[in-house]
Amino acid sequence: MFKNLTILDHPLIQQKLFYLRDKRTNNLNFRTMLDELAGLMVYEVTRNLPVRERSVETPLELTSGFVLAKPVTLVPILRAGLGMATGILKLIPHARVAHLGLYRDKTTLKPVEYYRKFPSDLPESEIIIIDPMLATGGSAVAAADFVKNNGGKSISFVCLVAAPEGIALFEKRHPEIPVYTAALDRELNDHGYILPGLGDAGDRIYGTE
Ligand code: PRP
Ligand code: URA
Repeated sequence: MFKNLTILDHPLIQQKLFYLRDKRTNNLNFRTMLDELAGLMVYEVTRNLPVRERSVETPLELTSGFVLAKPVTLVPILRAGLGMATGILKLIPHARVAHLGLYRDKTTLKPVEYYRKFPSDLPESEIIIIDPMLATGGSAVAAADFVKNNGGKSISFVCLVAAPEGIALFEKRHPEIPVYTAALDRELNDHGYILPGLGDAGDRIYGTE
């Protein structure tokens, strides 16, 4: 249905998402599972990253192996995106982290920017924008706009739960950016929340509901 969308259907990813959806999951367990889930997702997302060959001396002889060809930059969309960043950094510890503060205005549902700090080598980086929720798609589109305006070229977007409305908008505005999600849900409600969804991700991570 959406040509740039990949649904990560690995059983471990799906099981953790199941528990994240459960309203009885408390903040501590939500944070812990989101962290684990983000790691599992990025393992799949980075499968085709370019590598380069390097020589290495083992205790016995000279051989060669492979390392990532380009730096990796994570762009978590604050706040909720930060809940996925630590899990990804466990797998890619040398990744840079660019912060982008966006909140969704409650009435207009449009993203409002409040913070931005990007590394200077964005143009050379493999960039992964992360946010658990892609609802109307406004925040995701704005984040990709900022990344491109700062010279970013090789970009992926990773979320946990997406709404069809948001994926359609993102695909229209950024057709060349692949989107990875653990679930494509049914629809948005009148307040822009994803159904069935998992509620407000930021509130569930940080206990601010
Ligand atoms: C949530 C979520 C996304 C955005 C998705 O953030 O983490 O950033 O909403 O909605 P959209 O696709 O309609 O733009 P929120 O604005 O609630 O801020 P928070 O992360 O600080 O809780
Ligand atoms: N932001 C969230 O955190 N959850 C939704 O369902 C929609 C936007």
